Amino acid sequence: MNTRKTYENTEKLLKTYGQQHLLSFWPELDSAQKTAILAQIRQLDFEKIQDWIAKYVINYEPFALKADLIAASSYAPEPVDSQNRQKYAEAVELGKKLISRGKVAAFVVAGGQGTRLGFDGPKGNFPISPVKNKTLFQIFAETISAVSAKYQTTCPWYVMTSPLNHAETVEVFRSNDYYGLKKENVFIFQQGTLPNFSRDGKILLADKAEIACSPDGHGGSIKALWQSGAVEDMKKRGVEFLSYWQVDNSLINIFDPLFIGLHVLDEAEMSSKALIKTGPMEKIGNFCLIDGKVNVIEYSDLPDELAKKKNPDGSYVFQLGSIAIHIISRSFVEKLNAGVLSLPLHRAEKKIRHIDKQGNFVESEGIKLESFVFDALPLASNSIILQTIRSEEFAPTKNATGVDSAESARRMIVERAASWLEAAGVTVPRKKDGSPDCVLEIAPSFALEKEDIKSKLDRIPPIKPKDKLYLE
Ligand code: UTP
Repeated sequence: MNTRKTYENTEKLLKTYGQQHLLSFWPELDSAQKTAILAQIRQLDFEKIQDWIAKYVINYEPFALKADLIAASSYAPEPVDSQNRQKYAEAVELGKKLISRGKVAAFVVAGGQGTRLGFDGPKGNFPISPVKNKTLFQIFAETISAVSAKYQTTCPWYVMTSPLNHAETVEVFRSNDYYGLKKENVFIFQQGTLPNFSRDGKILLADKAEIACSPDGHGGSIKALWQSGAVEDMKKRGVEFLSYWQVDNSLINIFDPLFIGLHVLDEAEMSSKALIKTGPMEKIGNFCLIDGKVNVIEYSDLPDELAKKKNPDGSYVFQLGSIAIHIISRSFVEKLNAGVLSLPLHRAEKKIRHIDKQGNFVESEGIKLESFVFDALPLASNSIILQTIRSEEFAPTKNATGVDSAESARRMIVERAASWLEAAGVTVPRKKDGSPDCVLEIAPSFALEKEDIKSKLDRIPPIKPKDKLYLE
């Protein structure tokens, strides 16, 4: 490469778009750094960037709610009438068949920065299980193993990372020997990044020869699945459906035959699980219908009067909350990537570490842009929603303490284990406040669902107060 010539062309390009500061440390750089910064700049699509700056960075317009927003309908966790019962039974059968034929793969998005948790390393390596201290990745891997054994099949696992944690994540898997899974059945790939901006629309520098970037959001998974070759890999294996979840949800039921079956019976392209929100202001996205299409509206974008609006029976109109659990058809990912894939971008004002004009490291408020996977929902020809029970399937670890923390997730793991055991007739000691007076952990190899406990009662010892019990 003729560096001088490339430099001149790049400088011209940057001037056109008002970003010439990106080369302001040029005289101080060695030749490797010069090559690196030029390569980073040449990868950027300045036409798009100019558009984003205008739309999301400088002239940011608050989310405008469509007037014809109505509540989305959903399948209840259990069938409600005989017709429903028949459909659920059919869906479960179909879901089981699809899993056992290897048509369903696991897909975890783990490219986030996990700033709130403040854990050193990939979030998936966070130890969470209450007795054995298993990490999130280990719990998922053991679940995938147990499902593969139960259905006598191979369930591949797609793991999305970002350039910020890819090498570390691969090392975590390698050093744990892929948690007993075959390496060739774990496909780890990276999502893309987007540059960070100052409030006045300048791209920030992380260092003198490095543009400040962050992962392009979980919505980046749709493009990354395609560009990384994951879709091609799915095709080769005959995988047709991805079971999508977030890395911090330790209670995820990765292979749910009912969910998979309903998705397929209703010819959906992307489907979701939902919870009934704890209250109108719970900070999770809201499922709505806009122009007949399922949308998730962020809690911050739903006006209070709509959030608090009630049905005649007293329930909230917008009671369905999104918990980032989806089934995504491979054909849908292919379709989205065949066209001009453009999920909207969302702006977040965050503290960003970068260098200032003098080259000193500073941390100041800047703008990060990201896309959200649920913005693909309205692009699906059909999309179903299945309600689930919070205590069975949703225990996010977002924060170090308090709400949605490791502590609350561990409590929920123990609580779910207690309720599964009690449903099978086992006595679990409880405290006065009703919480279990013991620490319980059920390995996926022991039970993947409540019903699996009944056949293993002979392996469960009597549980005394303060016991620590691990069932495997
Ligand atoms: P969160 O919104 O919780 O973000 O991501 P986060 O980055 O993990 O944590 P904070 O906000 O910095 O504290 C929800 C899920 O989406 C994934 C995360 O890894 C998590 O599983 N994600 C998020 C990505 O895979 N890529 C992204 O760019 C953003």
